[in-house]
Amino acid sequence: MRICIVGAGYVGLTTAAALADFGHEVICVDMEESKIESLRQGKVPIYEPGLDALINKNIKNNTLFFSSQVEESIKDYPIILIAVGTPSQEDGSSNLTFINQVVEVIASTTNVYKIIITKSTVPPGTNEWIHQTLVAKGINEDLFDVVSNPEFLREGLALWDLYHPNKIVFGTKTNRPLKELKKLYVRGKAPYIFTSLTGAELIKYASNAFLATKISFANEMARICDAYDVDYADIAKGLGTDPRIGRYFLNSGLGFGGSCLPKDLSSLKHSAIRKNVETKLLDAVREVNDTQIKLYLNKLTTEVPDLTEKQITVWGVTFKPGTDDLRSSPAITLINKLLEKGCRVHTHDPMVQLELPGVHSHTDKYESVTNSDALIIATEWPQFLESDWSEVKSRMKGSIVLDARNCIDEKLVRKQGLVYLGVGKQ
Ligand code: UDX
Repeated sequence: MRICIVGAGYVGLTTAAALADFGHEVICVDMEESKIESLRQGKVPIYEPGLDALINKNIKNNTLFFSSQVEESIKDYPIILIAVGTPSQEDGSSNLTFINQVVEVIASTTNVYKIIITKSTVPPGTNEWIHQTLVAKGINEDLFDVVSNPEFLREGLALWDLYHPNKIVFGTKTNRPLKELKKLYVRGKAPYIFTSLTGAELIKYASNAFLATKISFANEMARICDAYDVDYADIAKGLGTDPRIGRYFLNSGLGFGGSCLPKDLSSLKHSAIRKNVETKLLDAVREVNDTQIKLYLNKLTTEVPDLTEKQITVWGVTFKPGTDDLRSSPAITLINKLLEKGCRVHTHDPMVQLELPGVHSHTDKYESVTNSDALIIATEWPQFLESDWSEVKSRMKGSIVLDARNCIDEKLVRKQGLVYLGVGKQ
C-alpha cells in the first residue's frame, strides 16, 4: 500500500517507521523543512527506543521517504494518514487548526479515490465534520472514505505497541474501506473493533480517561492508607490480583502527566459540556491529580518546615521513565513550586539536562545530592532503584529522601541512616 503520513511528530514518525517496516511504501510529510531535511539524513528529532534504527533501515530499503512537499504528496498518495498535533487550548478544548489545514489540502487536491485516516486524537464529531466538510467543498462521496483510527501508543514503548497492539480500532461510515484497512497493520491476536467515526474517537478518550481515573483512585487510596498507617503497596497488590480490576495503572505518586492523559481528560470534559453532560467523575480525577504535588510538598515540610534557601535535589524530570519528554511533567511542576518557596533546586535525570532558570542540572546523580537537605525521587527511572545509598548519605547535608513514586527500597535507604518519606507508606 502507498501511504502518506501527515505530521512528523511523535505519532507520525513511529507509525511511519512501523508501516514502512510492515512492507508499505510510506512518505512522511511535514511543513517544517529543517526537520524533514534531518530526517532524510536519518537524524531522528525525538528519543524513542528503536526508532532511529527502524527509520534508517527503512530509508535504506526505499520503503520510507520524507518530504516537505505536503500538498504534492497528499495529491499523489491514495491513503492519507493524519498525525498532526491537536494541542489543548486555554479552555481545555482541542486546537484543530492543523487538522483544518490538512482537510483544506485534501479538498483542493482530491480527484481520485482516497482513504483518509485520522490518527490524531480528535474530539467526538471531528471525523464526521471532516466528511461533511469535504462534501461541502464539492468532493463527491464516491471519491473518499474518512476513517477514525486512534493510536494507543505509550511513549518509550511505542514500537512495541505498534508491533503488538491489543486492539485495532476502525471507525467508518461504510464498509467500503474495510478490505484495504485490514492490510494496514500487523495484528497478531489483536481484535478489530469496527465502529462509527464518533465511536472510535470516544474509545480513545474513554481509554485515557479510564487510565487517569485508575491513577487518581490509587492516589486517593494512598492518602487514606497514609492516614491509617497502612502500606498502599499492599492495597495495590490486593486490588491487582482481581482480574476485574487488574494491577496496571494503580501506582500512586506525583500523579499523571505527559502529552496525552491531561490533555485528553480536558478535551473530553469540554466535549461533554458542549452537550450539557455533567462530568463529576472526570472533574474529581483532575482534582486529585492537581493536588498530588501539594500533598508531597506537605510531606516534605513535616521534616523540613522552612524550605527557604534549602538545597533540594530532584531525581527524574521527565513525565515518566524511558522518555526524554518533559510535556506536562509533574516533576517540572514540583520543581517550580520548590523554586517559588525559595529552594535552591538541583536536578539529575538519566536522559535530560534540564534547562530552567534557577535550576542546577547534573549529569551525575551523586554529584547532584552534594550538600542537599533533601532528595526527592520524582520519576521512577530504574537507575535510581540501584543507587548506592551510603554514597548518597555521605554526600548529603540533610537526610531526607522523599520517594514521590514509591519506587525505592525503603529498607536500603533507612539502613544508611537516611529518613525515608512517602505517601501511603507504613
Ligand atoms: C498514554 C496512554 O497510555 C497511551 O495509550 C496513549 O496513546 C497516550 O497516552 P503515555 O502518555 O506515553 O501514554 O504515558 P503512560 O504510560 O500512560 O503514563 C501517563 C502518566 O501516568 C505518567 O505521568 C505516569 O507516570 C503516570 N502513571 C502511570 C502513574 O502515575 N501511575 C501508574 O500506575 C501509571
